[in-house]
Amino acid sequence: MANSGSGPTARQEIDQGVVFFRDQLRPFSEANVSIATHALNYGTGCFEGIRAYWNADHEELYILKGREHYERFLRSARILKIQVPYDVDGLMHWTRAMLAANEYRQDVYIRPLAFKGAAMIKVTLSGVRDDLGIFAAPMGDYVRTEGLRATVSSWVRIADNIIPSRAKVTGAYINAALANDDATQDGYDEAIMLSQDGQVAEASSSNLFIVRQGELITTPVTSDILEGITRNVVFQMAKHRGYSYIERPIDRTELYVADEVFLCGTGVQLAGVTEIDHRPVGTGVMGPITKDLQQLYFGAVRGQDPTYKDWLTPVYGKGGT
Ligand SMILES: Cc1ncc(COP(=O)(O)O)c(C=O)c1O
Repeated sequence: MANSGSGPTARQEIDQGVVFFRDQLRPFSEANVSIATHALNYGTGCFEGIRAYWNADHEELYILKGREHYERFLRSARILKIQVPYDVDGLMHWTRAMLAANEYRQDVYIRPLAFKGAAMIKVTLSGVRDDLGIFAAPMGDYVRTEGLRATVSSWVRIADNIIPSRAKVTGAYINAALANDDATQDGYDEAIMLSQDGQVAEASSSNLFIVRQGELITTPVTSDILEGITRNVVFQMAKHRGYSYIERPIDRTELYVADEVFLCGTGVQLAGVTEIDHRPVGTGVMGPITKDLQQLYFGAVRGQDPTYKDWLTPVYGKGGT
């Protein structure tokens, strides 16, 4: 099996390290907010999830698709009318500085967070003071990367004119948490969410691809999905590998007849789904296209594949691919 690497799980509590908060690097213990913070009360924030992979041979920590994540971060902030006082270059600069200050030599997950920071009751967006922080924590796999058992959730994916689905809004993750919690309490690994029209949107915290007759299919950006960075990466790898792909609506029952199904996202990476609603996907084991793309992905993110070196930003600048 292609392996992403080991490390703490996403459930580990974070209580140490150096973080970037209010324009400075600070100890974790000094990055605190008031109980009356607008975003804490109303979910008026936006965030990113970025991974950085450690390559022991290169002695280098590679930030994966950092610029693309920060471009989406700024788009989310624009939708929520949050002023972020840095451009993509500035955000990348502080991210590298924060990671270097922590001297990480392992895989980490990076969490930029921009939010309505005022201690204020009024429910609105304009005229509410904004705050910005970036922290990180060591993290291994978010879910297993093969053999996932999924179920279609009874929770419907947020619609774009209810809570903007293409923005990575903090409050919107109540929707993902409800769906994921139900699924995992029922013994599944993941929840697949339908949109209000009953068609497939995505999984609780990742985008979804199916494979039918050798063609990769994923839902379009107008299907109430988060416009995933990894989703674009899959398109690029598919092109290089000569797989055709299409963005079109996916019916629920296509999940049951697909040859292969996989999830992709910064957290889940590229993970094969082998059972949905008690039906085996294809032959019930991870299919050849998923396996091929997964292998390519794990090599690329760790800086082992020169073809994809432009996906990566080194933190320590010691070279590598
Ligand atoms: C709801 C949701 N969909 C999709 C994704 C995948 O996005 P990305 O590939 O940019 O990480 C994520 C985050 O990982 C997510 O939270």
